[in-house]
Amino acid sequence: MSRDAMIDEWYPVGLLSQLLPEGRETLLMGETIRVSLGADGRAKVATTAGHPLPVTERYGHVWSSLGQPSKPLFDIPEAEHPGRRLVDVGVVRVRCSPLRAVENFLDIAHFPFVHTDILGAEPHTEVESYKVEIREEADEVWATQVKFYQPQAAKSASGGITTEYMYRVPAPTCSVLYKTCPPRPGEWDVITLFVQPLTEELCDVWPWMALYDDDTPMTDLIHFQQMIFLQDRSILENQIPRRLPLDPGMEIPTRADLTSVAYRRWLKRHGFTYGAQLVAR
Ligand SMILES: [Fe+2]
Repeated sequence: MSRDAMIDEWYPVGLLSQLLPEGRETLLMGETIRVSLGADGRAKVATTAGHPLPVTERYGHVWSSLGQPSKPLFDIPEAEHPGRRLVDVGVVRVRCSPLRAVENFLDIAHFPFVHTDILGAEPHTEVESYKVEIREEADEVWATQVKFYQPQAAKSASGGITTEYMYRVPAPTCSVLYKTCPPRPGEWDVITLFVQPLTEELCDVWPWMALYDDDTPMTDLIHFQQMIFLQDRSILENQIPRRLPLDPGMEIPTRADLTSVAYRRWLKRHGFTYGAQLVAR
């Protein structure tokens, strides 16, 4: 499908902590780009012909665009809260549509089956009803009051707890997840999924976290999250069709999929179809 409607969006293209003066080549929506550390200490992104591209440095990552973003990168206010650990998880390359990667992140029904005994466990497979809306003013998809029993909700959790989640989609290939923070009841841990669309069927997934957890070593936080995403990768690489179907009826939604339905509807409304599949009529 066309990348036109998505070309002016911001996309993650690398970690700020791994910038090199000599730069590194990567793909953004099929175009080869170079991400490097400029002499001024700031990130630089350019096409292979040397044409400079827009740059934002935020949430541990370099963000860029092949077009001309009309808005700044979406805000995550929690990222500025003092006391949170900011965790660059690194990159997981997945041979799937970037939209499929986000949709999978929004889905809780897979927890007991894919993240068995960590984020879910049988017989606790029921997804209770929750709320989903498209917040028109912010133009974001939100799912709230999502509750799920988890044997080990986070590295900082000891024993099973019912975790509450909120999901937010502020950009076509990004999602922000808010979940119960085991050491700080009343606060939310933030786990994001920033997806770099390399092509319509290949993506680099850059998870990032802003957690209240003073005890767990950084490497353990990173390994825990990488393990979760590697479990997702094997599922994502086997989904058929490879591109995300946006026409209703191509896949039968269940109650657990309400967030996915809203996400697909929102994508379709905006014409965000890079990585999507539409049926010709
Ligand atoms: Fe998963």
